[in-house]
Amino acid sequence: MTNLGLYRLASLNYIIVVNEMDYAEIIDEVAKKISPKRLRHSIGVSQTAESLAVRFGCDQEQAKLAGILHDLAREVPVNELLPRALAFGIVVCDIERAEPILLHAPLAAKMAQTELGINDSEIMQAIILHTTGGPNMTLLDKIIYLADAIEPGRKFKGVDKIRKVARTDLDKALLSALDLSICYIVKGSGLIHPATIAARNEILQNRSKY
Ligand SMILES: [Fe+2]
Ligand SMILES: [Fe+2]
Repeated sequence: MTNLGLYRLASLNYIIVVNEMDYAEIIDEVAKKISPKRLRHSIGVSQTAESLAVRFGCDQEQAKLAGILHDLAREVPVNELLPRALAFGIVVCDIERAEPILLHAPLAAKMAQTELGINDSEIMQAIILHTTGGPNMTLLDKIIYLADAIEPGRKFKGVDKIRKVARTDLDKALLSALDLSICYIVKGSGLIHPATIAARNEILQNRSKY
């Protein structure tokens, strides 16, 4: 890949200009890391995120890019996730040590940065939070979490209801997605990441203020 469309500004921040060709190149790179089935999921997340960005006034290119990249590390063998995360200097909590699959999110952000040259901190944060959610989620973080839950390939019971809510109320749809995720983990006697609880509590607390 020769040009990801990254242009450095005098402020040392990066802006991202993703034209169709650049986006196609990124898809080609993602396709080298994940199966065709997961690539279809990632394209679904990317397109859903773009639609949500239009609807709720978020940057469409950031949403599209975070969506296509979010599962870049999802097919890294589970026994490699922890050592690779630690090698990148990712801070790993007890829950993530016990459930290393959660590390595919922060690892994807690091891979996007080091292997694809993505240096947009907002995109990286959205990728990091796509599995657990977290406190102080930005609009982009919320859109990627929700898009991952409701992209067209998702078939779970209740998904159509969340899609309908997502047409008008992002936080309400996100709350439903978090609730379903928590219920699913509880049913499987899994560990709930504190960031997920924090995300849910924060949305509920903010909604009760209105
Ligand atoms: Fe994921
Ligand atoms: Fe995903």
